[in-house]
Amino acid sequence: MIKSPTTARTLYRTLTNTSKLLNNVNKSTSLNNDTTHFGSKVVPTEMKSKLVGNVFSSVASKYDLMNDVMSLGIHRLWKDHFINKLDPGKRPNSLEPLNFIDVAGGSGDIAFGILDYAKSKHGDTVSTMDVVDINREMLKEGEKRALNMGRYYKDPRVRYLIQNAEILDKIEDNSKDIYTVSFGIRNFTDIQAGLNTAYRVLKPGGIFYCLEFSQIENQLVDLVYQQWAKMLPVFGSIVANDYDSYQYLVESIERFPNQEEFKSMIEKAGFQSVGYESLSFGICAIHWGIKA
Ligand SMILES: C[S@@+](CC[C@H](N)C(=O)[O-])C[C@H]1O[C@@H](n2cnc3c(N)ncnc32)[C@H](O)[C@@H]1O
Repeated sequence: MIKSPTTARTLYRTLTNTSKLLNNVNKSTSLNNDTTHFGSKVVPTEMKSKLVGNVFSSVASKYDLMNDVMSLGIHRLWKDHFINKLDPGKRPNSLEPLNFIDVAGGSGDIAFGILDYAKSKHGDTVSTMDVVDINREMLKEGEKRALNMGRYYKDPRVRYLIQNAEILDKIEDNSKDIYTVSFGIRNFTDIQAGLNTAYRVLKPGGIFYCLEFSQIENQLVDLVYQQWAKMLPVFGSIVANDYDSYQYLVESIERFPNQEEFKSMIEKAGFQSVGYESLSFGICAIHWGIKA
């Protein structure tokens, strides 16, 4: 709570100055073969995963808070809709358990949500889940959450694997029924390589299913969002003492391809029946495709 007019004035000045600073950020877009984007900055390609790693190591312990600040808590509704729409779980008349993989799954939000849903809606207590993340701290947060929930910790059905989504060298070809990735793919150094790998690990008939920030389709909402986004790093520094990570997260959202561009990339990886659904005026979108 703001206790005095002086504190309020200081906070207002900080917000205004930061907003001006952000407007002046040099958004260089020129890349060569050895460079890529880290937010709006151009960095050597081999540095990006380390920089992304630093961001998530830094936010891991305050991950829920970060999501709630960034989305005003709405990420929980998006994730629920994402899982309900997928309707995951082995059907009673099917003999084989399903093999799920949740990539960039650190927090376990989606992986645990899928397993809970499969059990409550379809009575599925046999399907398996690989929770995969490149970042050890994020994966540890997921395991800690499983321990606190009293399920999916040291559960033979659930593996926690440190893996780069662009390679997934511990995951066999044609081994997974459903591949999910939620708010993770925009952080990959090479998004197309991540999609090609998703295609490789899925069985024929397997489903690629992704939740990610996207392009806002309504001008008014976009205007409000742009102002909100400028303030996010400041809130990040107030609530989590971490301005830079929040700035990266905002910039990475801005750089991510729009709905149609991302759809083309999924098709390029080989998927069929590719489609998407925009959520909250396109603030984020669900994308899907099926391996033929
Ligand atoms: C915003 S968090 C999303 C976590 C979770 N899926 C959710 O929806 O709450 C992004 C995650 O992507 C992971 N990540 C980034 N690049 C990755 C890569 N190349 N391979 C695997 N995970 C990656 C980060 O470590 C981080 O845990």
